[in-house]
Amino acid sequence: MDRGDIHSQTMPEVASSVWFRAKADVTAPGDLVLLLTDDLKRYVVKLQPRQTLHCHLGIYAHDALIGAPWGGVVQSTLGHSALVLEPSVDDLIRHLRRGTQIIYPKDAAYLVHRMNLRAGCRVIEAGTGSGGLTTALAWAVAPQGRVYSYETRLETHRLARNNLESVDLLPFVELIHGDIEGGFSQQGVDALFLDVRTPWLYLEHVRSALRSGGFFAGLLPTTNQVSELLLHMERGGFVDIAVEELLLRAYKPVPDRLRPDDTMNAHTGFLVFARSMDSQVDSARWHAKERQRYRARLQTKAEISAEEARRAADQAQGGKKYPPLPLPG
Ligand SMILES: C[S@@+](CC[C@H](N)C(=O)[O-])C[C@H]1O[C@@H](n2cnc3c(N)ncnc32)[C@H](O)[C@@H]1O
Repeated sequence: MDRGDIHSQTMPEVASSVWFRAKADVTAPGDLVLLLTDDLKRYVVKLQPRQTLHCHLGIYAHDALIGAPWGGVVQSTLGHSALVLEPSVDDLIRHLRRGTQIIYPKDAAYLVHRMNLRAGCRVIEAGTGSGGLTTALAWAVAPQGRVYSYETRLETHRLARNNLESVDLLPFVELIHGDIEGGFSQQGVDALFLDVRTPWLYLEHVRSALRSGGFFAGLLPTTNQVSELLLHMERGGFVDIAVEELLLRAYKPVPDRLRPDDTMNAHTGFLVFARSMDSQVDSARWHAKERQRYRARLQTKAEISAEEARRAADQAQGGKKYPPLPLPG
C-alpha cells in the first residue's frame, strides 16, 4: 500500500461546515441546494458567488440563488421557475459523478442502521468507488467520527475525493489509495463494510481491524458470491450472520389512481451482515437456527451412513440381521 498517498485531514472546522452551522431562513454561500425545476428535474449545487448553473431551461446564477428563502422560487434566464430546497442525503448520493456502480440510497440508509453508525463512530469501507456509500457513512459519523475508505484505482480514488468535497463531507473521511490485500491500518473500529468482488479473501484483515463484537457488512450482486462469503465466515470468528435484500417500490402519487410505478429497479445487491468475535468464541453456536438444523441433519446422515457400512460389514461376516435404520429428518 502506498502510505505516502494517504489523504489525511486535520480536525474539521466543524462550525463552518455546511452540515453543522446554524441554518438560516435564507441560503448562504457554501450551502448545498437542490433546485427542483418546473419540469421536475433535480440539480444539486453548492452556492458560490459568480458561479452559474447551465441547463436546458437556461441559466440559474448562484448570485440570484444566494439569499433566496428556503422553499422559495427562482427564475432562470429563460423564465423557468425552480424551487430552492435543501437536498437530502438521497439527493446527494444520486447526484455524485459516477465512475463505478454505486450503492443505492435504499441500501446505504439501511447499512447505516444495521451497522449502528452514529456520530463519533469509526468505520472502514472498501472499495471507495465513486463515494456513494462513503457519503452516507460520513454523514452518519460526522463530526467526531471517521470513515477510512480504501480504493485501489487512482482515478476512482480521485473521483471520490472530488465527490465528497463537493458535498462538504471530505473532512470526515480519510481516503486511502491502496489495496486491502495488505490489510487495514486501523484497529478497533466499530464497523467495516466491503463492496469488493471477493470479500472472503479479506476476512482475516476484517477481524484484525474490527473491535470484538464489531459490525461487519458486505454487498454482493450474486448469490454464488454470497454462498462463498458465508462458507468462509462460518470457518470462524463471525456470529449473528444474516443475508438480506431490500426491494423498494415507488408509487404514482395520484390519489384516485394510486398504483406502483410501471418499472422498478429490481436488483441492486444482497446484503450480508455479521458480528466479528474473538477466536475464543465457538461461533457455530450462534449461527442461524436453520444453519444449525442443517448441520445437525448432515451429521445424522453421516452417522447413519457409517452405521450402515458397519452393519453391512458385520452381515458379510455372517452376523445377525438388523432392523432398518431411521431416515434422517
Ligand atoms: C462497486 S465499487 C464500490 C462502489 C461504492 N461502494 C459506492 O457506493 O460508490 C467497487 C470498488 O472497489 C475497488 N476495489 C476492488 N478490489 C479492491 C481491493 N482489494 N482494495 C481496494 N479497493 C478495491 C474497485 O476498484 C472499485 O472501485
